[in-house]
Amino acid sequence: MRKLLVATKNEGKAKEIKQLIGSYFDDVVTLNDFDSSVNIIEDGRTFEENALKKAKMIYTLYGQPTLADDSGLEVDALDGRPGVMSARYAGENATDEDRIKKLLNELKSVPEDKRGAQFVCVLVFIDQQGRIYQTKGICRGKIAFEPRGENGFGYDPVFVPDGFDRTFAELDSQIKNQISHRAKAFENLKKILGEIYNENTCD
Ligand code: IMP
Repeated sequence: MRKLLVATKNEGKAKEIKQLIGSYFDDVVTLNDFDSSVNIIEDGRTFEENALKKAKMIYTLYGQPTLADDSGLEVDALDGRPGVMSARYAGENATDEDRIKKLLNELKSVPEDKRGAQFVCVLVFIDQQGRIYQTKGICRGKIAFEPRGENGFGYDPVFVPDGFDRTFAELDSQIKNQISHRAKAFENLKKILGEIYNENTCD
């Protein structure tokens, strides 16, 4: 029985992960299936540090193959901010709208050609034996001058991926799921899982 424990309490995230790599495991569970009182503080300076901290802590507690992720938005003109602070950029109780407003305000005098940015996603997988694997996905683009579109979440309404003139929130979710930072990190992880499990999926 090959089980994957996803180091999150977010069932939506777990559902997405199940669709992406569920075929390599008999079962995919989250922290809600164990002990939801576990609270991991994401205080790392990098996405790598945060994902590794989460994965190691959960693997140490439960001894199951574990997957943890960390992601966010890095804006060139802000020297990579909000970066690991993406979720808390406008304070703990702020909304996506508040964060977007703050970002656009910080960039109000930045011209089109200096509005480069990237979404980053880091995944850390720890297998049954405690071996650690890390993958990363980056999606380059630029920050729009105003929010557009209703799809997605977070900073999607102001992120225009390279090669497109629409924001992630205007694009079909299927397109986002092909080109996003998360899609790329999972593509890399799938290659690793294929090698670890010799392409023996659990289908
Ligand atoms: P975490 O990876 O769950 O810690 O959250 C990272 C934060 O980065 C989210 O709350 C969003 O604000 C932002 N973020 C990460 N990925 C995306 C994305 O695909 N679209 C929009 N915002 C994102």
